[in-house]
Amino acid sequence: MIEKRLSFCIIHAYLKKSTNFHKKNGQIMTQPHQNIINPSYFEAEEEKILEKISARKKELGDQLLILGHHYQQEAVFRFADKTGDSLKLARSAAEAKDSRFIVFCGVHFMAESADILTSDEQIVMLPDMRAGCPMADMATIEEVSRAWDELTGVIDSTSVPVTYVNSSAKIKAFVGKNGGSVCTSSNAERVLTWALSKGKRVFFFPDEHLGRNSAYALGIPQEEVVLWERGKPLGGNSPEQLKKSRVILWNGYCTVHMQFSAGHVDMWRKKEPHAKIIVHPECKNEVVDKADLYGSTEGIINAISDSPAGSIWAVGTEINLVNRLSRQHPDKVIRSLSPFQCLCSTMYRIKPGYLLWVLDGLAAGRTENRITVDNTTAEQAKIALERMLAI
Ligand code: 13P
Ligand code: SF4
Repeated sequence: MIEKRLSFCIIHAYLKKSTNFHKKNGQIMTQPHQNIINPSYFEAEEEKILEKISARKKELGDQLLILGHHYQQEAVFRFADKTGDSLKLARSAAEAKDSRFIVFCGVHFMAESADILTSDEQIVMLPDMRAGCPMADMATIEEVSRAWDELTGVIDSTSVPVTYVNSSAKIKAFVGKNGGSVCTSSNAERVLTWALSKGKRVFFFPDEHLGRNSAYALGIPQEEVVLWERGKPLGGNSPEQLKKSRVILWNGYCTVHMQFSAGHVDMWRKKEPHAKIIVHPECKNEVVDKADLYGSTEGIINAISDSPAGSIWAVGTEINLVNRLSRQHPDKVIRSLSPFQCLCSTMYRIKPGYLLWVLDGLAAGRTENRITVDNTTAEQAKIALERMLAI
């Protein structure tokens, strides 16, 4: 649980022949593409699909590990061997030495991290290649490299790059190469502290809000936190502003968490004064500021699980997690902070039919939707990921 201010807290795309089992060494990653999937996987009754997934899981045994992020829909989440937030799932992948096949029920960047952290003999698969993250797509390697060159062209003191785990493997590699680290929503403050001990300032991407919330939590004054607007020379800043800065924030954001507003907090305070308000640090600072607590998905789960029976919670995060918490704790009142359903539509692309298709493929000796990161990118990104795991 993370106390406020003490927080430490992407069907038929185009045809591609299925690959047979092979080592990933030497493979070059191309654009994510979705292999063809037989329409029967969507036409069958859900109950039948769930039964078949159970049977396949049993058949594949210990060589299969299914990882599930907390935002997954229930019909998929129930089959996860390990569940967690981004950090926990990265650790689970790194520790899964005995699992030959890792099916990642989450989004693309998470599966890339799993591929980077596993051995060459292990195969990582994403049931639907269209399960991406809009926020991760807001910082391309070309944009970030250009911005870095511009920044280092006007200041001579050291800047340390930090990327939120919600970023491509290429961005992670860039960070690894330039002395920085990855962070997640549960360790952003710790990683920022580490980075600020290594250089005068941190260039943080892609999530403006996680970066801002973490910087403020560390007591960094607002005037030393500047926004780098994509597409503008020097991100829309003067060289002087950049020289004075301690934290430079890329202007990316999560389309789900941006839907929570300070007005929602005010509404709950009025309607239910006893409710505790807990939000994810991808929310805007004005929301985090008004909330009682904030934390990663795992932090939110722990805070609610540890609260006494009768507690009332308004939760500012993705709806599948909020609904699951509500089902798991019938003795507590757990609702979304927003009156509207804040669904992560890309996480929602992982449907039971896709999971079954991947498992059926494995049983038939095929790897569908394999995620591979080329060796050079993987090596550099691993440096940044391992720095985080060590911090
Ligand atoms: P965590 O699970 O790390 O809190 O991150 C939330 C998220 O938005 C994942 O994409
Ligand atoms: Fe990306 Fe937000 Fe969905 Fe997480 S919840 S995968 S940050 S869009």
